[in-house]
Amino acid sequence: MRENPRLHWHFGIRLMHWLTVVALAAQVTIAFGPMNGPGMATMNWLPLHMSIGATIFAIIVLRLCWRVCTRAPVRQTSRLSRFATAFFHVSLYVTILAVLITGWLGYRPMPFMPPALLFGTLPVPLAPSVGALPARGFALVHAKLVWIMLGLAGVHILGALAHFVLLRDGVMRSMVFSRPNTASRG
Ligand code: HEM
Ligand code: HEM
Repeated sequence: MRENPRLHWHFGIRLMHWLTVVALAAQVTIAFGPMNGPGMATMNWLPLHMSIGATIFAIIVLRLCWRVCTRAPVRQTSRLSRFATAFFHVSLYVTILAVLITGWLGYRPMPFMPPALLFGTLPVPLAPSVGALPARGFALVHAKLVWIMLGLAGVHILGALAHFVLLRDGVMRSMVFSRPNTASRG
Protein backbone atom coordinates (compact mmCIF):
# COMPACT_ATOMS: atom_id res chain seq x y z
CA MET A 1 0.00 0.00 0.00
CA ARG A 2 1.33 3.49 -0.80
CA GLU A 3 1.81 5.53 2.38
CA ASN A 4 0.33 8.99 2.73
CA PRO A 5 3.24 11.42 2.18
CA ARG A 6 1.40 14.18 4.08
CA LEU A 7 1.40 12.16 7.32
CA HIS A 8 4.92 10.73 6.98
CA TRP A 9 8.22 12.38 6.29
CA HIS A 10 9.42 11.52 2.79
CA PHE A 11 11.12 8.09 2.66
CA GLY A 12 14.49 9.67 1.81
CA ILE A 13 14.28 12.04 4.79
CA ARG A 14 13.44 9.14 7.12
CA LEU A 15 16.31 7.07 5.73
CA MET A 16 18.77 9.96 6.12
CA HIS A 17 17.46 10.70 9.63
CA TRP A 18 18.14 7.17 10.88
CA LEU A 19 21.47 6.94 9.03
CA THR A 20 22.49 10.17 10.81
CA VAL A 21 21.49 8.65 14.17
CA VAL A 22 23.52 5.43 13.54
CA ALA A 23 26.59 7.29 12.25
CA LEU A 24 26.47 9.83 15.11
CA ALA A 25 26.13 7.05 17.69
CA ALA A 26 29.21 5.29 16.21
CA GLN A 27 31.14 8.57 16.11
CA VAL A 28 30.37 9.52 19.71
CA THR A 29 31.19 5.97 20.92
CA ILE A 30 34.60 6.09 19.23
CA ALA A 31 35.37 9.70 20.22
CA PHE A 32 34.60 9.19 23.93
CA GLY A 33 35.82 5.58 23.93
CA PRO A 34 39.02 4.28 22.33
CA MET A 35 40.01 7.64 20.79
CA ASN A 36 40.11 9.13 24.28
CA GLY A 37 42.58 6.49 25.48
CA PRO A 38 46.24 6.87 26.51
CA GLY A 39 49.34 7.31 24.35
CA MET A 40 48.82 7.49 20.60
CA ALA A 41 45.13 6.48 20.82
CA THR A 42 43.85 9.82 19.45
CA MET A 43 46.26 9.79 16.49
CA ASN A 44 45.51 6.12 15.72
CA TRP A 45 41.74 6.59 15.75
CA LEU A 46 41.66 9.99 14.05
CA PRO A 47 41.52 8.66 10.44
CA LEU A 48 38.43 6.55 11.27
CA HIS A 49 36.96 9.48 13.25
CA MET A 50 37.37 11.81 10.27
CA SER A 51 36.07 9.16 7.83
CA ILE A 52 32.86 8.77 9.86
CA GLY A 53 32.71 12.59 10.15
CA ALA A 54 32.98 12.95 6.37
CA THR A 55 30.19 10.37 6.00
CA ILE A 56 27.98 12.34 8.41
CA PHE A 57 28.75 15.51 6.46
CA ALA A 58 27.71 13.83 3.18
CA ILE A 59 24.48 12.52 4.76
CA ILE A 60 23.62 15.95 6.22
CA VAL A 61 24.26 17.78 2.92
CA LEU A 62 22.18 15.22 0.98
CA ARG A 63 19.50 15.38 3.65
CA LEU A 64 19.33 19.20 3.55
CA CYS A 65 19.10 19.15 -0.27
CA TRP A 66 16.30 16.57 -0.04
CA ARG A 67 14.67 18.53 2.78
CA VAL A 68 14.30 21.74 0.74
CA CYS A 69 12.61 19.75 -2.05
CA THR A 70 10.02 18.01 0.17
CA ARG A 71 7.30 19.19 2.49
CA ALA A 72 6.99 18.39 6.19
CA PRO A 73 3.97 16.29 7.30
CA VAL A 74 0.77 18.30 7.69
CA ARG A 75 -0.46 18.60 11.29
CA GLN A 76 -3.20 20.46 13.14
CA THR A 77 -0.90 22.42 15.42
CA SER A 78 -0.59 26.08 16.33
CA ARG A 79 1.66 28.42 14.38
CA LEU A 80 3.81 28.92 17.48
CA SER A 81 4.34 25.18 17.91
CA ARG A 82 5.27 24.77 14.23
CA PHE A 83 7.70 27.69 14.51
CA ALA A 84 9.29 26.29 17.71
CA THR A 85 9.71 22.84 16.12
CA ALA A 86 11.25 24.28 12.95
CA PHE A 87 13.57 26.52 14.99
CA PHE A 88 14.72 23.56 17.07
CA HIS A 89 15.36 21.37 14.01
CA VAL A 90 17.33 24.17 12.32
CA SER A 91 19.40 24.52 15.53
CA LEU A 92 20.19 20.79 15.37
CA TYR A 93 21.34 21.06 11.76
CA VAL A 94 23.42 24.19 12.46
CA THR A 95 25.09 22.60 15.51
CA ILE A 96 25.98 19.39 13.65
CA LEU A 97 27.44 21.41 10.78
CA ALA A 98 29.40 23.54 13.26
CA VAL A 99 30.80 20.36 14.89
CA LEU A 100 31.83 19.01 11.49
CA ILE A 101 33.41 22.24 10.26
CA THR A 102 35.32 22.98 13.50
CA GLY A 103 36.58 19.35 13.46
CA TRP A 104 38.02 19.95 10.01
CA LEU A 105 39.46 23.36 11.00
CA GLY A 106 40.96 21.70 14.09
CA TYR A 107 42.88 19.10 12.14
CA ARG A 108 46.60 19.79 11.58
CA PRO A 109 48.96 16.85 11.03
CA MET A 110 52.34 17.00 12.73
CA PRO A 111 54.99 18.87 10.71
CA PHE A 112 56.49 16.64 7.97
CA MET A 113 53.66 14.11 8.42
CA PRO A 114 51.39 13.39 5.43
CA PRO A 115 47.67 14.13 6.02
CA ALA A 116 45.54 11.28 7.41
CA LEU A 117 43.65 9.19 4.83
CA LEU A 118 39.84 9.12 4.68
CA PHE A 119 38.59 5.53 4.24
CA GLY A 120 42.24 4.51 3.90
CA THR A 121 42.62 6.21 0.53
CA LEU A 122 41.69 9.91 0.30
CA PRO A 123 44.07 12.43 1.95
CA VAL A 124 42.13 14.83 4.21
CA PRO A 125 42.30 18.26 2.53
CA LEU A 126 43.90 20.70 4.96
CA ALA A 127 41.64 23.53 6.09
CA PRO A 128 42.81 27.11 5.53
CA SER A 129 43.73 29.16 8.60
CA VAL A 130 40.65 31.06 9.71
CA GLY A 131 40.87 34.14 11.95
CA ALA A 132 43.26 34.27 14.87
CA LEU A 133 42.34 30.88 16.33
CA PRO A 134 44.99 28.15 15.77
CA ALA A 135 43.96 24.62 14.75
CA ARG A 136 44.29 23.48 18.39
CA GLY A 137 41.78 26.18 19.38
CA PHE A 138 39.28 24.92 16.79
CA ALA A 139 39.78 21.35 18.05
CA LEU A 140 38.83 22.55 21.55
CA VAL A 141 35.77 24.44 20.24
CA HIS A 142 34.90 21.26 18.29
CA ALA A 143 34.98 19.11 21.45
CA LYS A 144 32.85 21.70 23.36
CA LEU A 145 30.29 21.96 20.53
CA VAL A 146 29.85 18.19 20.67
CA TRP A 147 28.36 18.63 24.17
CA ILE A 148 25.92 21.29 22.92
CA MET A 149 24.93 18.97 20.06
CA LEU A 150 24.45 16.06 22.48
CA GLY A 151 22.33 18.30 24.75
CA LEU A 152 20.08 19.34 21.85
CA ALA A 153 19.87 15.72 20.63
CA GLY A 154 18.92 14.64 24.16
CA VAL A 155 16.08 17.21 24.33
CA HIS A 156 15.00 16.14 20.84
CA ILE A 157 14.90 12.44 21.80
CA LEU A 158 12.95 13.22 25.00
CA GLY A 159 10.51 15.29 22.91
CA ALA A 160 10.09 12.42 20.43
CA LEU A 161 9.49 9.98 23.30
CA ALA A 162 6.93 12.35 24.86
CA HIS A 163 5.04 12.40 21.52
CA PHE A 164 5.26 8.60 21.32
CA VAL A 165 4.28 7.68 24.88
CA LEU A 166 2.20 10.59 26.20
CA LEU A 167 0.72 12.53 23.30
CA ARG A 168 0.39 9.62 20.84
CA ASP A 169 -0.22 12.12 18.04
CA GLY A 170 1.56 10.36 15.16
CA VAL A 171 4.73 12.50 15.28
CA MET A 172 6.92 9.45 15.97
CA ARG A 173 5.07 7.42 13.34
CA SER A 174 5.86 10.12 10.78
CA MET A 175 9.60 9.37 11.14
CA VAL A 176 9.60 5.54 11.32
CA PHE A 177 9.15 2.88 8.64
CA SER A 178 6.01 1.17 9.97
CA ARG A 179 3.04 0.40 7.69
CA PRO A 180 0.24 2.96 8.18
CA ASN A 181 -2.46 0.38 9.02
CA THR A 182 -0.37 -1.67 11.51
CA ALA A 183 1.49 1.15 13.24
CA SER A 184 0.84 2.08 16.84
CA ARG A 185 -0.75 5.47 17.26
CA GLY A 186 2.53 7.01 18.56
C1 HEM B 1 29.46 14.85 14.19
C2 HEM B 1 30.70 14.42 13.98
C3 HEM B 1 31.81 14.47 15.02
C4 HEM B 1 31.76 14.24 16.37
C5 HEM B 1 30.54 13.85 17.22
C6 HEM B 1 33.10 14.46 16.89
C7 HEM B 1 33.48 14.32 18.21
C8 HEM B 1 34.73 14.59 18.72
C9 HEM B 1 35.12 14.54 20.10
C10 HEM B 1 34.15 14.18 21.26
C11 HEM B 1 36.42 14.85 20.20
C12 HEM B 1 37.29 14.92 21.48
C13 HEM B 1 37.96 13.56 21.60
C14 HEM B 1 38.98 13.52 22.73
O1 HEM B 1 38.83 14.26 23.70
O2 HEM B 1 39.93 12.75 22.63
C15 HEM B 1 36.90 15.12 18.87
C16 HEM B 1 38.17 15.48 18.56
C17 HEM B 1 38.60 15.77 17.28
N1 HEM B 1 37.88 15.63 16.12
FE1 HEM B 1 35.92 15.20 15.98
N2 HEM B 1 33.92 14.80 15.84
C18 HEM B 1 33.18 14.82 14.68
C19 HEM B 1 33.62 15.10 13.41
C20 HEM B 1 34.92 15.42 13.07
C21 HEM B 1 35.39 15.74 11.74
C22 HEM B 1 34.52 15.79 10.48
C23 HEM B 1 36.72 15.99 11.85
C24 HEM B 1 37.72 16.39 10.78
C25 HEM B 1 37.54 16.26 9.49
C26 HEM B 1 37.09 15.86 13.24
C27 HEM B 1 38.35 16.07 13.75
C28 HEM B 1 38.69 16.04 15.07
C29 HEM B 1 40.00 16.44 15.58
C30 HEM B 1 41.17 16.94 14.75
C31 HEM B 1 39.93 16.26 16.96
C32 HEM B 1 41.05 16.60 17.97
C33 HEM B 1 41.88 15.40 18.24
C34 HEM B 1 43.00 15.82 19.21
O3 HEM B 1 42.71 15.97 20.39
O4 HEM B 1 44.08 16.03 18.71
N3 HEM B 1 35.97 15.50 13.96
N4 HEM B 1 35.85 14.94 17.99
C1 HEM C 1 16.52 7.71 19.09
C2 HEM C 1 16.76 8.91 18.65
C3 HEM C 1 15.80 9.76 17.85
C4 HEM C 1 14.44 9.70 17.72
C5 HEM C 1 13.46 8.72 18.38
C6 HEM C 1 14.05 10.77 16.81
C7 HEM C 1 12.76 11.05 16.41
C8 HEM C 1 12.39 12.02 15.52
C9 HEM C 1 11.04 12.29 15.09
C10 HEM C 1 9.79 11.55 15.60
C11 HEM C 1 11.08 13.32 14.23
C12 HEM C 1 9.88 14.00 13.53
C13 HEM C 1 9.57 15.30 14.25
C14 HEM C 1 8.47 16.09 13.61
O1 HEM C 1 7.91 15.65 12.62
O2 HEM C 1 8.16 17.19 14.11
C15 HEM C 1 12.46 13.73 14.08
C16 HEM C 1 12.89 14.75 13.26
C17 HEM C 1 14.18 15.20 13.23
N1 HEM C 1 15.27 14.66 13.90
FE1 HEM C 1 15.23 13.05 15.15
N2 HEM C 1 15.17 11.46 16.44
C18 HEM C 1 16.25 10.88 17.04
C19 HEM C 1 17.56 11.27 16.95
C20 HEM C 1 17.98 12.37 16.25
C21 HEM C 1 19.35 12.84 16.24
C22 HEM C 1 20.52 12.19 17.01
C23 HEM C 1 19.37 13.93 15.43
C24 HEM C 1 20.53 14.81 15.11
C25 HEM C 1 21.34 15.29 16.00
C26 HEM C 1 18.03 14.17 14.94
C27 HEM C 1 17.66 15.21 14.10
C28 HEM C 1 16.38 15.43 13.63
C29 HEM C 1 16.00 16.52 12.74
C30 HEM C 1 16.93 17.62 12.19
C31 HEM C 1 14.62 16.36 12.48
C32 HEM C 1 13.72 17.24 11.59
C33 HEM C 1 13.42 16.52 10.32
C34 HEM C 1 14.31 17.02 9.24
O3 HEM C 1 14.26 18.22 8.94
O4 HEM C 1 15.08 16.21 8.69
N3 HEM C 1 17.22 13.20 15.44
N4 HEM C 1 13.24 12.92 14.88
